[in-house]
Order: sequence, then structure tokens, then C-alpha cells
Amino acid sequence: MRKTFIAGNWKMYKTPAEARALAEELKSALKGCKHKVLIAPSFTALDAVSSVVKGSNILLGAQNMSNVEEGAHTGETSVLMLKAIGVDVVILGHSERRHVYGETNEVINQKVKLALSHGLEVILCIGETLEEREAGRAEEVVKKQTEAGLKGVSEDQLKDVTIAYEPVWAIGTGKTATPEDADQIHQVTRDTVKNIYSADAAEAMVIQYGGSVKPENAAQLMSMDNIDGALVGGASLKVDLFLPIAEYDK
Ligand code: PGA
Repeated sequence: MRKTFIAGNWKMYKTPAEARALAEELKSALKGCKHKVLIAPSFTALDAVSSVVKGSNILLGAQNMSNVEEGAHTGETSVLMLKAIGVDVVILGHSERRHVYGETNEVINQKVKLALSHGLEVILCIGETLEEREAGRAEEVVKKQTEAGLKGVSEDQLKDVTIAYEPVWAIGTGKTATPEDADQIHQVTRDTVKNIYSADAAEAMVIQYGGSVKPENAAQLMSMDNIDGALVGGASLKVDLFLPIAEYDK
């Protein structure tokens, strides 16, 4: 049985003081939450949020990480820095990183392997653009992103990997994939994991859906067989929106 995993991606919102206040509220609101829960503030708020969630049932996430361990890389943040600040999980390959900042499958794969080798958990984001979907290429794209992202990752390391399917056209747009369409891509992703690794690995893989997840659509999406949780952007910035999603009863 896969554990439901709800993650909040705060993107480039909230100063450290604002992030700390939101984390405090979530910590008390989510005390009894039975699901795995993560919040991922921006880099400058990680330290403040780390001290709030330490020892609680909320995991601390980062939204990105350098593909190299350390060195002359102006403006980057290393895996060692994230570890030192108490980060548990790093979100990699988010569509905004892929499409706004030009991250390739190769670079994302380097990040995945580096994070795992340092004991961080990874959320590997995949998803097709509207153009790719309209061209009938959605399955091909997510299959390729899954294979490339996991290249060189051992079956043993997979226990620290979550995949997030986020159709690019559904992120921040208010448009959501229908539960059936999303579930179908999740199935394709699971089959891809099965082909690379094994039936057991595929069965155990937690696959989140992301893209305009809201309290109104969360239950329907997550009730699908292959949807094991959510990666939530906009709705993760407000307690009254994130709470009903995180407390979804499967
Ligand atoms: P959204 O973002 O929920 O605001 O669509 C999801 C994401 O980008 O992870």
C-alpha cells in the first residue's frame, strides 16, 4: 500500500518572516495528519521554516539544487547547503525549471543522482506541454522524462524517489487534467518504472499529481488508482486551502 504524499511548493512567495508564520500555522493544523506532508519554501526561508518544522510531522523541501556538489557556481545552492539546513526532500525538474530556465533531462538526472547519493529524498517532476499534448505526444514525453530522470538510479535508491506528474498546461492556469486523463498518464509512468526496474518497484512508486490542485478537485484526483498524492502550488500558500487537501481521506 502506497502512502499518500501531499507536498506544498511555495515557489517564489513569502519572505522568511511570512514563511515562518505560515509554517507555524500549518504545524499546528496538521498535527494529526495521517499522510506524508511536505512544505517547500524558497531558499531564503528554508532556515526559518526548518526551525519551525523540526521534530514535527512536516518534512522540509527545497525547490531546486545545483547539479554539482560545490565549486565556483555563482547563484547556485548545493546539496551540502540543503542538508546542513535540515532539508529532507528536494523537488527537481519542475516545469518552471525546465521551460523557463532551460534545464535539460541530463542536468535534472545529475541533480537526482547527486541528491540521492547524499541521502536526500527527491520529487522528480515530469509533464508535457500543451503543444505536446495536442500533438498526441504526452505519453512519449513523460516516458522519456521518467527514463532520463532515473538513469543510473538503482532500484534500491528508488525508495527515496517520488514522481510528480504535472501537465505544464495545468500549472497555475486553473485548468486541471480530468482524473481519468491524469490517471492514464500515471499508469504510463508506472509502466515505465516497471520496464526499467520491476513490477515491485512500479507498485511501490508514489506518483503525485500536480497542476491547479484545489480542495474542490483534490479528492476526485487522488481517489484514482494510480494517483498517490498531490504537488500543490497556489493552494499551498493558504492554510484553509492546503488543509483540506492534506487531510484528504483515501
Ligand atoms: P499550481 O502549481 O498548483 O499553482 O498549479 C503546481 C506546481 O507547479 O507544482
